[in-house]
Amino acid sequence: MPEFRRYLVNIDSISTHQLFTDCLMVGAGIAGLRAAIEASKHRNVIIVCKDTLENSNTWKAQGGIASVLDKTDTFESHIADTINTGCGIGDESVVDFVVRQGPELIEQLFRWGAEFDQIDGRIATTLEGGHSHPRIAHAHGDETGRIIAEVLIRKVRQNPNIKIMENFYTVDLLTNDNNECVGIIGRDRRSPPGTDQIIWAANTILATGGAGQLYRETTNPEVATGDGVAMAYRAGAILQDLEFMQFHPTTLYVAGASRALITETLRGEGAVLLDNGGRRFMKDYHESAELAPRDIVSRAILAQMLKTISTHVYLDVRHFDKEHFAKRFPHIFELCESFDIDVSRNLIPVRPSAHYMIGGVRTDTSGKTSIESLYACGEIASTGLHGANRLGSNSLLEGLVFGKIAGQLVSQCKEAGIAHIKHPLIKYQIPHSDRTRLDAADVTNSLRALMWRNVGITRTVQPLSEAQEIIGFWQRYVMDKIFDGPAGWECQNMLTVSLLMTRAAEQRRESRGVHFRSDFPNTDDKRFKKHIEITR
Ligand code: FUM
Repeated sequence: MPEFRRYLVNIDSISTHQLFTDCLMVGAGIAGLRAAIEASKHRNVIIVCKDTLENSNTWKAQGGIASVLDKTDTFESHIADTINTGCGIGDESVVDFVVRQGPELIEQLFRWGAEFDQIDGRIATTLEGGHSHPRIAHAHGDETGRIIAEVLIRKVRQNPNIKIMENFYTVDLLTNDNNECVGIIGRDRRSPPGTDQIIWAANTILATGGAGQLYRETTNPEVATGDGVAMAYRAGAILQDLEFMQFHPTTLYVAGASRALITETLRGEGAVLLDNGGRRFMKDYHESAELAPRDIVSRAILAQMLKTISTHVYLDVRHFDKEHFAKRFPHIFELCESFDIDVSRNLIPVRPSAHYMIGGVRTDTSGKTSIESLYACGEIASTGLHGANRLGSNSLLEGLVFGKIAGQLVSQCKEAGIAHIKHPLIKYQIPHSDRTRLDAADVTNSLRALMWRNVGITRTVQPLSEAQEIIGFWQRYVMDKIFDGPAGWECQNMLTVSLLMTRAAEQRRESRGVHFRSDFPNTDDKRFKKHIEITR
């Protein structure tokens, strides 16, 4: 089976250029950057990322970071909201741990220079769906991710123990005969074929983010193609919860333009949803109306679009004071202006898009994966915090907490030094295939359309099994080839992750959290109050 190939490229470790480090960070969102800062206290660190440090989901985050920062809020309330939203399969001990770490780590970010918006000398908080208290801290209005990322990036760029390799595409994790992770193989994207590099590492931390690009419509940047999940799968790591892909209810819908996030905090501060007849419809679907959990709002929008035969619905913010809006939501204000949408007079056309991969590489409470010397944190990790649904703004929090924990562990781990790297000889040769070569860009585009149509917000058996058949067909012609650059490797990774997600979605014959099966609309605790685990 071509999907079971261990590595995507030929490897001859003797003749490949080699680097060595104590700790290797693959990815550079909030989790990777925070982990690097922590690990660098006692170890040397290399960060590799496939574009620049600035190109991440973290950078694009708007709404904020959830934590108990208000005197009238409580840990118990944040814990209860997270567990309730997780629909029965969230890990209560992880939730408790993460929630309680939040305030201290956010205060630390603040001290490091993250200018969170303030009110009366305290960090201001706002509301998002599913939270029973305003607990979303934000910075420069709706530019929270950028502000946090800039602070962390400044710290890593100034750190003499951290070497940064941008534009480096990681192709595969390397493992030895004991299935310990010993580093990676990859290549500078600007370098020609034949210039692969091996980075041997005593410990490797995967923080490659999500996989929104598996879908035609997504809030995610182009780099979010699920590479980390695919390479962890090839290396034999345990994955879980891949069927849970969260769709964000409100992304800007302008035909021909790519989707852009319109933060949920807008609804938290009074924006309402109207259908194309101008009717406020959310009350028909949930008593919390626009502030119902995300999965409910996304499905309600879809249902209303069908009912009214429309491609989108609208966010109405016309009642906001225009000057206040421009200050509080500067990014969205500018985005709307760029499409000639005057928020004080016009409705904002929106519809749901793929947003957040809840499942991923299974980790324990210290970020350890099932592979020795391999850690994961941030969106790629499946820690159990979110269960079957993620509360808005809990992801930056998770990345911050587990980034710190994983980095700390790696920095203190006795065998974390380069001297302990047992790098093996690796020789891997892929047989030549005469089968027709498909164009990777064509396959990628068709795959994204297929995932959107067949493995989207509402799922049912026939489209799910057809999707597996079609992906399997593409795999036969794509997974047997050796590509000499990122476009092909990304296509191979996207096919791998899409198939795993689709299989998991078919296997979970119930509805729970973000996974909705129209053929099994109820939750079936007897058979499915559990995680679906996947290994190679
Ligand atoms: O709506 C938002 O600002 C998104 C927040 C999140 O996904 O956590």
